[in-house]
Amino acid sequence: QTIYRNDYTPPAYLVDTVELGFDLDPARTIVASRLTMRRNPDSERAEIELYGENLELVALRMNGKPLGKRDYRIDGNLLRIANPPQDVTLEIETITAPEKNTTLNGLYVSNGSFFTQCEAEGFRNITYFPDRPDVMAKFTVMLRADKQKYPVLLSNGNLIEEGELDDGRHFAKWEDPFKKPSYLFALVAAQLVCQEETFRLKDGRDALLQVWVEEGNLDKTDYAMQSLKNSIRWDEERFGLELDLDRFMIVAVGDFNMGAMENKGLNIFNTKFVLANPRVATDVDYAGIEAVVGHEYFHNWTGNRVTCRDWFQLSLKEGLTVFRDQEFSADMIGTASGRAVTRIEQVRTLRQAQFPEDAGPMAHPVRPDSFVEINNFYTVTVYEKGAEVVRMLQTLVGRDGFRKGMDLYFERHDGQAVTCDDFRNAMADANQRDLILFERWYSQAGTPIVKARTQYDADAKTYSITFTQSCPATPGQPKKLPFHIPIAVGLLGADGRDMPLGQDGANGSTAVLELTEETQTFNFTGVGEQPTPSILRDFSAPVVLEYDYTDLELLHLFSHDSDPVNRWEAGQRLAMQRLLRLTSAVASGGKLELDATFIDAMRKILTDDGLDPSFREQALLLPSETMMAEQMSVVNPQAINAARQFVRATIGTTLRTELMQQYLANMTPGEYSPDALSAGRRGLKNLALSYLAAAPDADAIELAQAQFDNAGNMTDRVAALIGLIHAGADSAAPALQAFYADFEKEALVVDKWFAMQAAAPATTVKAVRELMKHRAFTLKNPNRARSLIFSFCGANPAQFHAPDGSGYAFWAEQVIALDALNPQVASRLARSLDRWRRYAPALQGQMKKALQKVAGGKKLSNDVREVISKALAN
Ligand code: ARG
Ligand code: ZN
Repeated sequence: QTIYRNDYTPPAYLVDTVELGFDLDPARTIVASRLTMRRNPDSERAEIELYGENLELVALRMNGKPLGKRDYRIDGNLLRIANPPQDVTLEIETITAPEKNTTLNGLYVSNGSFFTQCEAEGFRNITYFPDRPDVMAKFTVMLRADKQKYPVLLSNGNLIEEGELDDGRHFAKWEDPFKKPSYLFALVAAQLVCQEETFRLKDGRDALLQVWVEEGNLDKTDYAMQSLKNSIRWDEERFGLELDLDRFMIVAVGDFNMGAMENKGLNIFNTKFVLANPRVATDVDYAGIEAVVGHEYFHNWTGNRVTCRDWFQLSLKEGLTVFRDQEFSADMIGTASGRAVTRIEQVRTLRQAQFPEDAGPMAHPVRPDSFVEINNFYTVTVYEKGAEVVRMLQTLVGRDGFRKGMDLYFERHDGQAVTCDDFRNAMADANQRDLILFERWYSQAGTPIVKARTQYDADAKTYSITFTQSCPATPGQPKKLPFHIPIAVGLLGADGRDMPLGQDGANGSTAVLELTEETQTFNFTGVGEQPTPSILRDFSAPVVLEYDYTDLELLHLFSHDSDPVNRWEAGQRLAMQRLLRLTSAVASGGKLELDATFIDAMRKILTDDGLDPSFREQALLLPSETMMAEQMSVVNPQAINAARQFVRATIGTTLRTELMQQYLANMTPGEYSPDALSAGRRGLKNLALSYLAAAPDADAIELAQAQFDNAGNMTDRVAALIGLIHAGADSAAPALQAFYADFEKEALVVDKWFAMQAAAPATTVKAVRELMKHRAFTLKNPNRARSLIFSFCGANPAQFHAPDGSGYAFWAEQVIALDALNPQVASRLARSLDRWRRYAPALQGQMKKALQKVAGGKKLSNDVREVISKALAN
């Protein structure tokens, strides 16, 4: 069942046009399709291959003649017609039952309406089709449905006809002017309303923009619409890419497996990434909407106009599009320090989620070599590490060079289905750069480790840095070759200023060194004093940097580094050292102490009003429990939790006065605005609150309670409630109750209500089981399942890893239960035990038992089976 990248062969038949007819009925939808096909000159094979899954085949005709059972073979998901003529018209009729489709893959019903999700291989659940991304065709779609129940009928492209039918039905006909692979097909038949406006494009054309939601949510579409307009403008300006359609639609749906989907002209979104107003959405939600709206819009060029040859190339569109949405979000903030904060958040995601993936049983290259189930490869590696790889390309060829590379990429490949190599070659050719070694970022899994050693020669005034790189073995890849690593370096003098650099490739005071061998030394001349090196500025490569910094050097960088990312990084190193030391102290019953040096460094940042509040928030946030666990050879979740709590409480106590000052100084009175400056102030204020509440005294609890009662927006309300819950305040329970009563009609807020409780330090497995009995809980809705179960298994490690193994038994039950409904969601939950081999033997044994329990399940999906068997094997 494993599919290999090297087995790729071109399709034997191409599809020029597709006409689809839908008679939509939840219990029995009839799908008629007419395909015009022809032999692919690039293929030797003479066979039509159509994929189909969970379909009832009613009729199949070739060039007008009905085909009987002997004219084709069905072999699992594949329908084959041998030796067809050169040109073929196929007519296919199938039946599906969307209301029974709980997988949310293909055509399904959510809250009484029809939606589709076809990436990666969902289209084969709708009709028989050569469902692979290198088959691109022009689609025309006729939708027919009951007019009362489904007043809105949408598909890709332009609406070319609509009207009435008998029996209270109506129809709409849509035509997509662009060729596209089947994974970009979409339809919606629903009771929805929209916010719309016409928007003038750069070339003077007007486009109709629409955001479709359920009636009660029309007060939550402004931000998505604004983000869409900003995205269109940004792509015009930064990359010269214009919207190629007359109409662009975003549709929100409450049941959705992922974040959103870039279907041509008809993006379908998880409600979580569309709906917002100050009453229900937090600053983080607003930022998520901007990023995801941008992401899906940017796919119109990077993904849709130029798509992937096969699914191994997924990062071609995802890594590039994540990079684009990251740049978009950074440009929207506009300030250098705002940009740096978005970069810090990206680094945190990588370390928290991607590095562990790269070090675990599911490790895979950005361009995987094999998979069992492609849905398991929509990962932080393909997305976020993929974006880092694209970012490194920009670092290597420069911003203008990158734009030239993009231009050449579109010039060469518009309308094609291509590979990661094609993208890299466009970058190389447009800039006359040799990027051959760079290919290893696509082919080798694992996080490279870069060790640095430095030497200063005072007489010669030279400074040298020697880098040695290595990369740990990953499943199937025991040995790695050196990577091409851009390492941005600056040198700080004792005065805290950057020294001018006498080195080739230096750009002002930062040099981008290119490490391409296992060991290389770089020399700086004219260095008048012993510098403090600032290495890997702006996190110029997704690697682990090992350098023996002294505390003094870190404090120097934390106070002065002109590169905000490394300035933040110095603080993280200081904190991590202490957190790890304290974790061992907790485990061995030693004395817990936090040094004044560290506290003073924190105080200095906290009270430095010359720094953006959002940067100060980042600098004061401790590394997470998950990140701490990644640093330990034997993970002790309870000790980690206790050590981190100790540090938080100590900060809360010793910096009480300063925290209170900052709390008061960073209020955002007046009307709520999600802009970065206001959000940053709220972020710092609420971080101060969380430290104060971590050292719970009556004042801190009163402060949290007052904020909860008077909050004018969801950001402040949630922060206050979390403060009360984490402080174990008596008032937490009534506050939770009040919160639920206020927001029970807002599904996305109810998700928050579950998630806050799931992640609370006092929430046991038993308490989660109780919450599952709540009338608002259901496993069928992915957002709800994630809010309670995933939050517990992922964001509450000390409870999840209870020594009696009850957390793991619970996990196994939920994976099995979810798998029966929705394999894609189940398979994500299945990943929670990826790192099981790193725990103490007693916990390991319990985890293994739970993994085996799932593995023994009778009707396991491919999705879950792949994840579990890899975990057990590696
Ligand atoms: N292409 C979508 C995005 O990046 C993700 C869709 C993934 N869906 C899936 N079933 N794997 O926004
Ligand atoms: Zn994407």
